[in-house]
Amino acid sequence: MVFLLVFGLLGGWILAGRMLAPLDRIAHATRTAAAGSLSHRIRLPGRRDEFRELADAFDTMLAQLEAHVAEQQRFAANASHELRTPLAISKTLLDVAHTDPDHDTGELIDRLRTVNTRAIDLTEALLLLSRANQRSFTRELVDLSLVAEEVAETLYPFAERHGVTLKTSGDIVSTNGSPALLLQLTTNLVHNAIVHNAPERGTVWVHTGARPKTVVLTVENTGEQLTPQLVATLTEPFQRGTERIHTHQAGVGLGLAIVKTIAEAHEGTLTLAPRPAGGLRVTVELPAAS
Ligand SMILES: Nc1ncnc2c1ncn2[C@@H]1O[C@H](COP(=O)(O)OP(=O)(O)OP(=O)(O)O)[C@@H](O)[C@H]1O
Ligand SMILES: [Mg+2]
Repeated sequence: MVFLLVFGLLGGWILAGRMLAPLDRIAHATRTAAAGSLSHRIRLPGRRDEFRELADAFDTMLAQLEAHVAEQQRFAANASHELRTPLAISKTLLDVAHTDPDHDTGELIDRLRTVNTRAIDLTEALLLLSRANQRSFTRELVDLSLVAEEVAETLYPFAERHGVTLKTSGDIVSTNGSPALLLQLTTNLVHNAIVHNAPERGTVWVHTGARPKTVVLTVENTGEQLTPQLVATLTEPFQRGTERIHTHQAGVGLGLAIVKTIAEAHEGTLTLAPRPAGGLRVTVELPAAS
């Protein structure tokens, strides 16, 4: 009896130790992650049982968290860099004016004003991005075709100045969302379609349509040929098309990132595709109003 008792206890203890070893590894990984190291993975070997599934799910969560944190860090670094540029340019302009009192002040003021406007645009875009990210807006019934009409009306003179023809069409389609943010989304897309169009005689088509459970806004424009690889990167913050980066009229590079954030905040999606004849086709799909 004594032997059986000791054997049973010992056997049970060893068996429990072996069975619970994976839990130890998972607990260790949790503590490591809590201490700030997100690169650690459990990578539990062995057959597919509940422990293995738990460990794999934990590894997937860690990988997503790590990618998210890296993206946030990249964003903060890029934003700081972009904000520093206009400040550094202003400082150089002021230094030059300080050392050379005969410098043309009219020209200096003009350049300072341009640089300052750019810094304000950038800050406003960053604020908008963070507001859309918080998803704290109130939802109302919004007719996308009316929004498209309003944007087209506002940007019509701008399109004319760029030699671009603006065409709107489509059905009355309603979604639930923030009118201000959806107006911003449409404005960014139509603005892009005008600015990044062919140098002259360009066309922009804005279309609204309904699918079984969703509503779709499509903005299409003529322009130069784009590769699918380049198009895939355009929604990243501060990503600009190659040839315009160093020109004066280069944008901030946040327009499409804002569109993507607003679409996702409305449980929608943003799809970009190059047009075979050149230019871009942008589709935003949002849930239809119930
Ligand atoms: N409709 C379009 N047709 C062709 N290229 C486009 C179009 N929309 C965007 N792009 C490309 O994608 C890049 C990123 O666009 P995004 O709107 O994010 O930034 P931006 O227009 O450069 O600056 P801003 O933040 O001022 O809008 C652009 O620089 C441009 O090269
Ligand atoms: Mg833009």
